[in-house]
Amino acid sequence: MDVADIRNLMRKTQASILKNGFLGKPSDDLGNVVASDGVRAMMESALTARDRVGVSDFVLLENFTSEASFIENLRKRFKENLIYTYIGSVLVSVNPYKDLEIYTKNHMERYRGVNFYEVSPHIGKRYDLRHIEEEGDGARREFPPFRGIPLNREPSELMLQELVWSQKRVENRLKQQRGTDSSDVYAVGDNAYRSMRTERKDQCILISGESGAGKTEASKKILQYYAVTCPVSDQVQTVKDRLLQSNPVLEAFGNAKTLRNDNSSRFGKYMDIQFDFKGAPVGGHIINYLLEKSRVVHQNHGERNFHIFYQMIEGGEEDLLRSLGLERNPQQYQYLVKGNCPKVSSINDRSEWKLVRKALTVIGFNEDDVEELLNIIASVLHLGNIQYGEAEEGNSCITSDTQIKYLARLLGVNGAVLTEALTHKKIIAKGEELMSPLNLEQASSARDALSKAVYGRTFTWLVNKINASLTYTDDSSKHYSVIGLLDIYGFEVFQHNSFEQFCINYCNEKLQQLFIELTLKSEQEEYEAEGITWEPVQYFNNKIICDLVEEKFKGIISILDEECLRPGDANDLTFLEKLEDTVGGHAHLVTHKLADTKTRKVMARDEFRLLHYAGEVNYNVNGFLDKNNDLLFRNLKEVMCMSENKILTKCFDREELSDKKRPDTAATQFKASLAKLMEILMSWSRRTSAASSPMTPSRRFDEVLIRHQVKYLGLMENLRVRRAGFAYRRRYEVFLQRYKSLCPDTWPSWQGKLREGVATLVKHLGYKPEEYKMGRSKIFIRFPKTLFATEDALETRKHSLATKLQAGWRGYSQKTKFQKLRTSAVRVQAWWRGILARRRAQRRRQAADTIRRFVKGFIYRHRERCPENEYFLDYVRYSFLMNLRRNLPKSASEQLRKLCMQNMVWSYCKKINPEWKHQMEQKMIASELFKDKKDNYPQSVPKLFVSTRLNGEDLNPKVLQALGSEKMKYAVPVTKYDRRGYKPRPRQLLLTSNCAVIVEEGKLKQRIEYEALKGISVSSLSDGVFVLHVPSEDNKQKGDVVLQSDHVIETLTKIAICSDKINSINIIQGSIKYSVAQGKEGIIDFTPGSELLVAKAKNGHLSVVSLNEYPPLEHYLRLTSEVLLSLN
Ligand SMILES: Nc1ncnc2c1ncn2[C@@H]1O[C@H](COP(=O)(O)OP(=O)(O)OP(=O)(O)O)[C@@H](O)[C@H]1O
Ligand SMILES: [Mg+2]
Repeated sequence: MDVADIRNLMRKTQASILKNGFLGKPSDDLGNVVASDGVRAMMESALTARDRVGVSDFVLLENFTSEASFIENLRKRFKENLIYTYIGSVLVSVNPYKDLEIYTKNHMERYRGVNFYEVSPHIGKRYDLRHIEEEGDGARREFPPFRGIPLNREPSELMLQELVWSQKRVENRLKQQRGTDSSDVYAVGDNAYRSMRTERKDQCILISGESGAGKTEASKKILQYYAVTCPVSDQVQTVKDRLLQSNPVLEAFGNAKTLRNDNSSRFGKYMDIQFDFKGAPVGGHIINYLLEKSRVVHQNHGERNFHIFYQMIEGGEEDLLRSLGLERNPQQYQYLVKGNCPKVSSINDRSEWKLVRKALTVIGFNEDDVEELLNIIASVLHLGNIQYGEAEEGNSCITSDTQIKYLARLLGVNGAVLTEALTHKKIIAKGEELMSPLNLEQASSARDALSKAVYGRTFTWLVNKINASLTYTDDSSKHYSVIGLLDIYGFEVFQHNSFEQFCINYCNEKLQQLFIELTLKSEQEEYEAEGITWEPVQYFNNKIICDLVEEKFKGIISILDEECLRPGDANDLTFLEKLEDTVGGHAHLVTHKLADTKTRKVMARDEFRLLHYAGEVNYNVNGFLDKNNDLLFRNLKEVMCMSENKILTKCFDREELSDKKRPDTAATQFKASLAKLMEILMSWSRRTSAASSPMTPSRRFDEVLIRHQVKYLGLMENLRVRRAGFAYRRRYEVFLQRYKSLCPDTWPSWQGKLREGVATLVKHLGYKPEEYKMGRSKIFIRFPKTLFATEDALETRKHSLATKLQAGWRGYSQKTKFQKLRTSAVRVQAWWRGILARRRAQRRRQAADTIRRFVKGFIYRHRERCPENEYFLDYVRYSFLMNLRRNLPKSASEQLRKLCMQNMVWSYCKKINPEWKHQMEQKMIASELFKDKKDNYPQSVPKLFVSTRLNGEDLNPKVLQALGSEKMKYAVPVTKYDRRGYKPRPRQLLLTSNCAVIVEEGKLKQRIEYEALKGISVSSLSDGVFVLHVPSEDNKQKGDVVLQSDHVIETLTKIAICSDKINSINIIQGSIKYSVAQGKEGIIDFTPGSELLVAKAKNGHLSVVSLNEYPPLEHYLRLTSEVLLSLN
């Protein structure tokens, strides 16, 4: 069984067990197997985990009104690297300032399409209602146990709260976090996405909090989550890329290093992501809020201008910088030196520049767009470097031409006109236009105003351009769903707070109000829907502060506008006075004049203090009027309208010049855009669900900071509202499903109405009436302790359930195993029986055939041999012979064998021809003579004897002539050894019928008559030396002849036959003596050796060394048989 089979089997088992109501929860083993399938295994919390890692939802805090226990819960979780915690549907997160491994693709996949309560808190997923989920020892523990139970989602369930805490950036990021796989960011994002898909409702995720808390990071993580998990197509991929790439571009132009955050967003961003009916992102739209333009011309100490300036200077290619007239040194530019911190260790401007350039291309900027954009950015730097000198009557004049030249080229304007516009102001008096010179101060603020306007408007153009590239273009389907992502600047409190901080904090105040209202509303709506009486909740409503800022006529913004617009000598201080006059008595406003002595000590005279919900902030009124006015002199506007730079022509519209109406002030514009945003969010409160994410940063858990953040994010307010009545609520079916095992009446299944089932269950559990309420479709539990007690009971109960499940499963698996084994055994047996039966049947068939043939043969036995009787006849003959063999006497058998042998010999001899017969006769003689006597005899056996070993041309005709009528019977080349010196001489030995002749090149040297031949001596070794003994008294003969033949056996056999001296051949071991003329004797010594050698020895003997190694006899026998075969 392979793994897939096991898995299937387990699933089936699980299903069957669940169906039969056997147990409501798979065992751990089973869970793990299912988990390996990509689905998170659902594990139950350990009883102690709550104490160690805290509750994952603050609504389950027993002492929910206590800030201390709130912070303690955060601390426990932070210690375990659990940075996310819910307050109902709000996600509170703590900025870890280190990389947690919870944003990987695997994590994203885990959160994709899984119900909210199945996974631990994360940005991607919104938490449904009060679910318990504890985490500890790295494993996520959660319940309820079943996946796939639909969420009870009402439109009133809103995502409400947001917060971000910040602390100075921790430079050395902590090393790898301790292993934990809990808490992923994606829960909120995925939940919003799924709600949008399944309920077809637009969603909104609000992210807010203090600067540096991680709002932008969170929004990026959510965007990445969508990019990874949403369906794709070519077009969708482009949109995804553009959506993702819009971030680096906007961050480059809209983010800057502040004292609180190295990448602080200096604008608010609300981004719509549009999804088609398949759920694929098909478009997007960005709304930007109030860019902090003042940063272009001034930065506080330790802060920087917008990133793009540094990126361009640091990363721009040489050619680019040259064409823009820039130097690669930020210190050269007045607009970049104020903060005195051009380099930041956490920022790599060069690589960021590359990213931005790439992102611009992805978004759809062509080369011209980029060039014009960079021209504008560079021109801002040149503007900052314009230097003014004093001309007559205190009027200003520009002292350096270089900047004007660059500006004229980069902005595409006339240099002279620009110079005039930067030093004069156009006034219209009595219908006449007059150019009034500016003094030094006025001129530099005109220049700064131009820089801010150019940068600010270009930023807006940039956002519009990105929007154009993100626009959903498919006309065929105009219906799309939207997820909104709000990443607004966080609450800011600096040492010196100005107009920008005022606007930013006002914005946060509005959001807080929205959160509280929505939370309250959602709670109220739920209670109403469930028919439960709403009890009023005590909480701080910050509407009073919002009103103080924005109320018509009496609000701070109205007063500021009034001061900006009124004729006369209005300035920042008159605005402060007006403020004191109009709203001086307000509980949330304090000025130096109105403050008590203690407060006065910490307030300057030009400051007013607002008591925000998040804390007190002193605002310095200096620059309020200017910043609010945001005025750009008309003639500067005109110059910009004349620009040849296409971006600027779009930013500075000529119609603006003809429009006599004074534009709205910055604060009013901001107020209006905020009101619009609130409208959008409030309108969604009726039809959408949204998520939010609060955060706090710290390397270690800084309690003072955290307490401050808890306060300013209004978390306790939010929790109080959430916990106004009941800590936990859950739909009846879900509650029953989870806890039914705790009551015998509801276990294993409840057949009646769900409400009654739950009532029975809680009665059995002993809930007191004040502890819970039964709604229309949900049970409401007031105290977490009631729920925890139930949960703990379930925990205990689970052990017995698990045992049962295990027993069931083991039984089932063993049974299945046994059945499988049995089936296999039966199958094997069946096969084997079949084989045996088939074999038997075949044997029977063969026997029947034999019998049939026998009988048939018997019938046809007297006929000629034919197919019918041949078997029978053969069989009878065979039987007869075999019988005969068995019964014959032993001697008869011997006799027969002899006969057979004779017969074979006879038939062989009959086949022999005369030539072969002659050959065999010679071989027989050779055998008789030399077999087992001379060592090289075996070598001669396979070689045929021939009548001559000389070629025609070797034999001199004169020799034949000399022989006359004597017929030559054999000729062989030999070596003759001198009798004394043993000098070898090549000779030919010829045998005729009468004599042996030794020939030397046509001369008959010696003739030995056979009759005279006394004998022939040859050694027993393998040499070819032999001696022909002749009578020594014969004068013609000069003694015995010592010869050597390569065919010694053949030669001696021939000599023996021709001379008829077969018996005269002596085979001698050791030495041969031979006679030399005059009675002298010579000796030939034969010795075996490794090398054939015939030479005179020192003792005067002829020494013959013969080879003593020859192949084994079998070799010669084989050769012999081959020869014989070839002859036959
Ligand atoms: N989830 C996180 N994990 C690790 N580090 C984080 C996380 N969120 C934020 N940070 C760190 O905190 C820094 C500040 O975060 P971010 O820029 O998102 O703050 P912000 O809330 O947008 O601030 P601002 O209001 O100034 O724009 C990041 O640069 C990053 O280093
Ligand atoms: Mg930000």
